[in-house]
Amino acid sequence: MKLKFDYNNMMADVIGERGIDPKGFAADAKAITAAYDDVMANLGKGWQEWTELPYIDPSDLDGMIARMDDIRSKASAFVVLGIGGSALGPISVVQALLNMRLNELPAAALKAAGLPKLYIEDNIDPERMNELLELIDLKTTYFNVITKSGETSETLAQFLVLYDLMKKAVGKEEAKKHFIATTTIGKGTLYNLAQKEGFVTYGIPAGVGGRFSVLSNVGLVPFAAMGIDIKKLLAGAKEMSEACRNGDVKKNPALLTAYLQCKAMEKGANISVMMPYADSLKYMSDFYCQIWAESLGKAVDKSGKVVHAGQTPAKSLGVTDQHSQVQLYTEGPFDKVITIIAVEKFRRDVVIPDDKDIDACEFLKGHTMGELLNHERVATEYALRKAGRMNFTITLPEVDEYTVGELLAYYEYETAFAGAYLGVDTFNQPGVEEGKKATFAMLGRKGYEEKLAEVRAAAKKSEYYI
Ligand code: PA5
Repeated sequence: MKLKFDYNNMMADVIGERGIDPKGFAADAKAITAAYDDVMANLGKGWQEWTELPYIDPSDLDGMIARMDDIRSKASAFVVLGIGGSALGPISVVQALLNMRLNELPAAALKAAGLPKLYIEDNIDPERMNELLELIDLKTTYFNVITKSGETSETLAQFLVLYDLMKKAVGKEEAKKHFIATTTIGKGTLYNLAQKEGFVTYGIPAGVGGRFSVLSNVGLVPFAAMGIDIKKLLAGAKEMSEACRNGDVKKNPALLTAYLQCKAMEKGANISVMMPYADSLKYMSDFYCQIWAESLGKAVDKSGKVVHAGQTPAKSLGVTDQHSQVQLYTEGPFDKVITIIAVEKFRRDVVIPDDKDIDACEFLKGHTMGELLNHERVATEYALRKAGRMNFTITLPEVDEYTVGELLAYYEYETAFAGAYLGVDTFNQPGVEEGKKATFAMLGRKGYEEKLAEVRAAAKKSEYYI
């Protein structure tokens, strides 16, 4: 694998008593093996169908890639409608692999690159929707509606608004050609609509949950539409999957860091900070926050015992947050583990000039901005270590499809192992479902009358208003 994992700064013999006791690996060997066995026994089964995604025959993707190449050649904008797992994976990957200022490029530059603008809508803020409508030309815009369940209110609302406008702009027959559905085949409102309207439809395997779906058509379709090399992405994910199937905890990065995080939780480190030192990886933190929070934050374990498990994920960005949150990380409560993501070589760098007219700033002259960023990262690792704060570093030699594929697969396996170690159901989300049902009820959806009464009764009991 290309990624490197340095966990020195997690260990008590390196950072002092607040770190993890290295003897724990032997003492906890049984629990580590049980967590490993649990995940391995379910590879490709039930809600672990995501483990199979990197092993797909790449030639099976050729038809979809060709169709997306065609759409790209016609599109001025490609818009993804989805939320949660149907948006955060795509957002994290396009930020990593496309020009970060893509939508601000002049039309001629976009044309030369053969790329449309890209919008991943995620939220349903009405102001945001209005602003999108001011930016796009519907006649040359293509929409990918993504919802695993096919039922999510936010995504269906976005779809209804945009399909209606598209029909008014280009007529029904043409409008149909501008919508691609990605959903569970055979069931759900979106699937039924897509069938009725005749949209091109791509499936999401039944056993792949939203937050584990980035390497399914949920991510692959929009990535292919934007010309990203999805075969290389999957090849990276496959290599990491192999590493994460190694039974030796010291050789399996996901099992290793899942164990260290669980031990850190036992020591009161209930916050997990994800801190990439690269703007291209900024939204990997959003992907991580969802998969870690929604998978591990559970009231009960698999036996039904109340555990209120979980570790609160937090986003941070190097070096930006060195001037903001790092003060808290080094001197505040001992309640955090900080994961730093390093990039060895930036795809493009900028030399800080040796300007002879300026006497000051000798220390900066001649270095590159990439070097400065990485020196600052090492400085933060040093400061955290000196302050006895648990942290570990994941290094990408560079950001490309392969290493991003590795990183995504690592997060998925790390979450699965952590969930197994904690004994919770990693793949359900009863708290999220509760909110979805309450929304259906308040909107008057048929079949949710009892839920509506419950929501109203709960509201009545609240006495504390001003
Ligand atoms: O991980 C999950 O299951 C959720 O975050 C879902 O991705 C999110 O609620 C959106 O669901 P759907 O894809 O069914 O619209």
